[in-house]
Amino acid sequence: MKPSDYRFMKVCRGEPADTVPVWIMRQAGRYMSQYKEIRGKHTFLEMCKSPELATEVTLLPIDILKVDAAILFCDILIPVEAMGVKLDFIDGTGPVLDFTIETAGDVEKLIVPDPVEKTGFVMEAIRLLRRELEGRVPLIGFSGAPFTLASYIVEGGGSKNFIKLKMLMYQAPDVYRKLMKKITKTVIDYLNAQIEAGAQVVQIFDTWAGILTPEDYRKYVFPYTQEIIGNLNREGVPVIHFANESATLLPVIRELGADVYGLDWRIHIDEGAAILGENAIVQGNMDPTALFHPVKKIEEIAADIIRRGKSAAGHIFNLGHGILPPTDVRHAQALVEAVHKHGRRTENEPR
Ligand code: CP3
Repeated sequence: MKPSDYRFMKVCRGEPADTVPVWIMRQAGRYMSQYKEIRGKHTFLEMCKSPELATEVTLLPIDILKVDAAILFCDILIPVEAMGVKLDFIDGTGPVLDFTIETAGDVEKLIVPDPVEKTGFVMEAIRLLRRELEGRVPLIGFSGAPFTLASYIVEGGGSKNFIKLKMLMYQAPDVYRKLMKKITKTVIDYLNAQIEAGAQVVQIFDTWAGILTPEDYRKYVFPYTQEIIGNLNREGVPVIHFANESATLLPVIRELGADVYGLDWRIHIDEGAAILGENAIVQGNMDPTALFHPVKKIEEIAADIIRRGKSAAGHIFNLGHGILPPTDVRHAQALVEAVHKHGRRTENEPR
């Protein structure tokens, strides 16, 4: 099959497909015994930095779940490390970054890395994956959005209330702006290098955008993400934007210029699509905890989301955020099967 004929790619372009395509955020992860087995022998960062291991892990959900797209196994913090921030992943705690941003001088210390030189292992994994995936499913590359990446740099890791980040934003806006500009340039170069290496779709994750008011989102986040989307070499490469807890931000997000908008589960997908506009193509949006229901109930929930998704110009099924580590892999398999069954296009349907 030609890459442009994949059902996933068709829906990204707003064209009809045989059924609703589905993939799952964090589909290569700890809910899979095969992942845990490999992870038992390597650290998470070793896995990200080995093109062979990253390729092996990326392929697991394609074989096991039968999803319609592969997403490169990596982490949004890899380019941050390339900017000069020491990064570690501590089991049970998550990412820990060793850097402080207080003054413009601190931002000066960060570099805008050459993505091929500093993160060549990512590009190599993409090349290996394209060979493995030929004729099967498209490969999604990705990056964190500048605001989410800034949150990790400024907070030094995950955070509950983002006080440091917000105080930098409100009380040292020049430093914040300088930081965001540097990250924005890094992300543009990083994603374009992924596209050059063979990524067929790219997704921008703005995990923490939802901590802001719509006004602050427009002022402090929107211009940077918009600049990225406007500077990608996106000829034939759809751009997916995903922001978590973003229902109240959708009237602003709709102006970003992405091809596909990811929705979390806190809004019905048809209501989200209505806010995004009549031509909007949406991705989402089942609550990840819904996978803990019995299979029959999962199927019912998926069918309802598919029914609602028909009001959009296109719908790619996904969870509203990443799959959770305690999920039963058989339930994820059942979800993919249910989406393909209930999403099947009937003869006289327009799409
Ligand atoms: O979707 C995929 O399968 C592709 C791989 C992927 C990972 N992280 C693998 C991963 C992607 C796209 C990400 C993105 C990512 N990383 C985001 C944005 C996406 C989102 O969920 O909104 C964020 C915020 C991160 C930063 C990060 N990395 C966190 C907060 C954690 C969790 C820490 C923990 O222990 O729970 C990670 C680690 C991580 N990234 C794991 C995986 C499979 C687990 C690592 C392990 O095996 O211990």
